[in-house]
Amino acid sequence: MDLLNYTLSVEPKSMEHYEFVRNHFDFPVDIDYQKFMECDLNYVVAVRMENVDSPVKFLLGVSIFSLFEDKIHINYVAIDKEYRRKGINRAINELIEDVAMGNYIDYLTANIREKNLNSINSFTKCGFEINTNRICKYQNGDVKVHVFKKIII
Ligand SMILES: CC(C)(COP(=O)(O)OP(=O)(O)OC[C@H]1O[C@@H](n2cnc3c(N)ncnc32)[C@H](O)[C@@H]1OP(=O)(O)O)[C@@H](O)C(=O)NCCC(=O)NCCS
Repeated sequence: MDLLNYTLSVEPKSMEHYEFVRNHFDFPVDIDYQKFMECDLNYVVAVRMENVDSPVKFLLGVSIFSLFEDKIHINYVAIDKEYRRKGINRAINELIEDVAMGNYIDYLTANIREKNLNSINSFTKCGFEINTNRICKYQNGDVKVHVFKKIII
């Protein structure tokens, strides 16, 4: 499957979670979030669409985030290849922003591989800034770009 192959090469963990969600959850609404893996701090957002030919909804994308005392960290996001560039990641981030506001949290953060320009663009387009003071590397040596967004209430 295209989505699997492409995403696995870009972000292996995103795909693991995408598959996990695809196989384990049944979300009744188009975009919603639930606790993930029985852990109070971790949530999964699922975006589902109703097929025009059938009432069965299918999964377009997932995002996993962790709620901390002072910030929400977005761990993973993967959108089905056929449905990218349609603002789905933006919609997910807006939902996560609402969660942040509801919990009096000021910041959203995420780490992105430097070479993953689509993802960096998608986050900056949603108002995330690149933290140039924080330069780290992934285990395989890829540069890790830290992005953040201050929530304005
Ligand atoms: C990165 C990813 C989550 C973005 O999701 P998305 O729903 O397509 O993003 P959005 O539609 O909300 O964001 C759109 C904006 O991001 C930027 N962008 C996204 N994909 C882009 C691309 N292929 N080329 C250039 N810009 C791109 C553009 O600025 C775009 O705005 P525009 O369409 O108005 O020009 C998606 O491409 C994906 O699942 N990639 C594979 C997994 C992955 O890399 N996950 C991120 C790990 S941190």
